[in-house]
Amino acid sequence: MRLKRERAIYGFQALFAAIVLLSGALLGTVFLYFQRQALADGMDRTAQEVAGTLGTLMADDILLEDRYRIADQLGRTQEKNPDILYIIVTYPDGRPLASTFPSGFPAGLPLVRSSKEAGTLHYDSSKGPLREVLYPIDEGMTGYLRIGISEERARTTLRYRAMAFLLALLVVTVLSSLLAVRYRRLLVELAKKERGRLHLLRRLFSAREDERQRISRELHDETSQSMVSILTYIGLLGTRLKEEGERQLLGEIRSLVATSLAQLRSLAVSLHPPMLDELGLVAVLEKHIETLRRGETDPAITLRAEGALAGFSRMTELVCYRTVQEALANAIRHGKARHIDVSILGRPEGIEVRIADDGVGFTEAGVRRARREGHIGLVSMQERAELLSGTFAMRKSAAGGTEILVTLPRQQEE
Ligand SMILES: Nc1ncnc2c1ncn2[C@@H]1O[C@H](COP(=O)(O)OP(=O)(O)O)[C@@H](O)[C@H]1O
Ligand SMILES: [Mg+2]
Repeated sequence: MRLKRERAIYGFQALFAAIVLLSGALLGTVFLYFQRQALADGMDRTAQEVAGTLGTLMADDILLEDRYRIADQLGRTQEKNPDILYIIVTYPDGRPLASTFPSGFPAGLPLVRSSKEAGTLHYDSSKGPLREVLYPIDEGMTGYLRIGISEERARTTLRYRAMAFLLALLVVTVLSSLLAVRYRRLLVELAKKERGRLHLLRRLFSAREDERQRISRELHDETSQSMVSILTYIGLLGTRLKEEGERQLLGEIRSLVATSLAQLRSLAVSLHPPMLDELGLVAVLEKHIETLRRGETDPAITLRAEGALAGFSRMTELVCYRTVQEALANAIRHGKARHIDVSILGRPEGIEVRIADDGVGFTEAGVRRARREGHIGLVSMQERAELLSGTFAMRKSAAGGTEILVTLPRQQEE
């Protein structure tokens, strides 16, 4: 049990860490992509600026093909910008006029670059990966400048940033999965406590029902049997009394005892449905409805039972019975209903109990007020349902009155 819980906790931790890592990696990829774009844009901008200045400075020298002055200018520019690998000055047709390469072009770099390929090109030259910007002087009429920048430094920067990001991601993952374990442990503890609470409540509920059953049986078997005997003795006494006045008095005692006996029996029945175990839910409900019909209000009550109703636990049947009992009493007392429909529906997954009336209906405020004043009919209905992992709902019925719907699963969680 403990081992299983530990495994569940670590499984959860692994899942959590995986989610954090994955989303971090995704975020990192997007972040690094934009970083790379920004670095490349920065390099191109530098090259363009350098080319702009150089183009203005050297336009005349290029027209005059003054290679000495051009070389001097190129050398100085390169000194000031360590990122610039080379500068090539070309004729308008692309042929090189001068360059910063003292002895020929490095391998991988084309001798002539067409002016049609404007913008930035990438080369993998013998001097490493580089990007080359093409800049037209006087819109290409004087010539072009090709400026090569090494990508090495940008790549190194990017690598450092990626590493810093990975490190941060790792720290975040470890910290958050530690937190997750703590959180998960709390949740598991809480669930355990909740299970304990439910277990206790169930025991309480069933102890109360047992007690009710015991009192009910006592009332039925002992007390009412004694009263029946009293009635028999009264009958016997009646035959011996001669005087009219005494017989009348005895008659009154007899009817008093008979009324008390009837009240006692109905109390015994309401305390515990006597034949739930023997007859089953539907028959007992029918009997209960029968006694209500004999009451003074006499609403029309229909009972519909459908589906598979066998095999439910005693507790489930008891909760169904108590629900119907309370809902019917409410419909008559508060709703002043003329018609009440009770339906019990057995499904493979559970049982559904619905009590719908055509009475005056309820208001949220009324229900809240009753609860504040300590009325617990609806509250216990809900509690009992939840005790058995079921659901409780109260809403307006199709006939404009009140509808109570309780569902209970066939299998209860332990
Ligand atoms: N079928 C119903 N029709 C109208 N009102 C109802 C109905 N059922 C419950 N109520 C309202 O909900 C309140 C709470 O009901 P309940 O918890 O059973 O307590 P009690 O029956 O002791 O008043 C009632 O006072 C009533 O206002
Ligand atoms: Mg009530």
